[in-house]
Amino acid sequence: MTKDFANQSSWDLDRAHVLHPWANFGPFEKSGSLVITRGQGAKLWDAEGREYFDAVGGMWCTNIGLGRREMADAIAEQAERLAFSNTFVDMTNDPSARLAGKLAELAPGDLNRVHFTTGGSTAVDTAVRTVAFYQHARGYPDKTDIVAREQSYHGSTYLTQSVGKRDGDRVEEFRYKTEGIHHLRCPNPYRRPEGMTEAQFCDDLIAEFEALIARVGADRIGGFIAEPIQASGGIIIPPEGYLRRMWEICQRHEILFIADEVVTAFGRIGHWFASLAEFGVQPDMITSAKGLTSGYLPLGALILSERIWNVMAEGGERWFTTGLTYSGHPVSCAAGLKNIEIMEREDLLANATKVGSYFQSRMKGLEDLPLIGNVRGRGLMLCVESVSDKGTKVPLAEGINESKRISDVAESMGLIVRPMGHLNVMSPPLIISEGDVDFIAETLTAAICRVTDDLIREGIRLG
Ligand SMILES: Cc1ncc(COP(=O)(O)O)c(C=O)c1O
Repeated sequence: MTKDFANQSSWDLDRAHVLHPWANFGPFEKSGSLVITRGQGAKLWDAEGREYFDAVGGMWCTNIGLGRREMADAIAEQAERLAFSNTFVDMTNDPSARLAGKLAELAPGDLNRVHFTTGGSTAVDTAVRTVAFYQHARGYPDKTDIVAREQSYHGSTYLTQSVGKRDGDRVEEFRYKTEGIHHLRCPNPYRRPEGMTEAQFCDDLIAEFEALIARVGADRIGGFIAEPIQASGGIIIPPEGYLRRMWEICQRHEILFIADEVVTAFGRIGHWFASLAEFGVQPDMITSAKGLTSGYLPLGALILSERIWNVMAEGGERWFTTGLTYSGHPVSCAAGLKNIEIMEREDLLANATKVGSYFQSRMKGLEDLPLIGNVRGRGLMLCVESVSDKGTKVPLAEGINESKRISDVAESMGLIVRPMGHLNVMSPPLIISEGDVDFIAETLTAAICRVTDDLIREGIRLG
């Protein structure tokens, strides 16, 4: 049988051959995928030439915006000069060494050592395993348990999906590692127990961590991992002081604090890295990806403290037996360097802070709509949460799929927002203007109103 690929459309080929990340088999086989063919700044065009404003920023990642000639040139030049050279053991290449130096300059405190990976999952996977390496090296081989939080997302390898724990991700068909991994409650102030102030909720979460340490033993818990703002779990801004207090507990018990900044770094909330600048926390490790290259090429980085390095390197005998063929890929690292240069030159962090604050206040107005229970975010990350009753905060029944319906209507109006459970999530590029924010707010409002009317017509009660 000959396969005639050349005469089929991308839509047909995709539907016939691609298994997508987070594929939903039924709808996919029925409707296929939206084929995107071009991008410029925050705009996308599909195969039919329709234009969209991408308020999702690719997937938390197109920070400097798409279609930059300078990026394409830097990538092409590096691909021509040296498309690949591995960085195993004692070889390196120029862009990888230079980007490591730049990251050490930008990262807080003594986070001076960089291990490159292929993306966020592989950076987090390595960070979690490095906890065991470090604790073993300093004489605590049993201090390897990891503490994480519910509704966290840390990636999609076996280990990182086991450390993360979003409701929708834990399907029974897949397997997860449970031994040595503990999950604390999600610090979501909107969903705090009835009758508790935010400060009391924070005390409660801190007490939960202390109780876990008392139960399991500080001699067994080696690391705590946290996204400073839980992104895919629903833009969870923890209660005031929470992260700092969690970090202080870690300090007291020699538990390494891993800040998973795959989303929050590189300007998303106006800083190179959010942990110290926004939350007063000096992590032992930071994991990063996405905005590191603004999505132009895949790259992840685990940034480690000098203290961890010194313990691991002590005696000079050990081998750090982990790494990937494409660790320190020269073309990806060249893209990272150029990306950071552009952010610095155009002061995109300042733009993210300024427009981010307008974004937050403008979108907060959506809470006036009957369907919207909560709008929350920081900088240029934000979500809109739908509820069936604002007083009780009860979500709409599963199967109504209101957030997917909202994103479908928004898409038909030229705006891409991401549906996630009962949320619609946004993380636009850092280059956006206040005018762009007005477009997002107006279009999303119109989409929500249309879906609300449909729901009412269908007899669904909204409180
Ligand atoms: C906080 C966080 N960590 C890790 C990852 C995994 O990154 P990647 O998809 O590049 O492997 C993600 C992806 O969304 C993320 O949001």
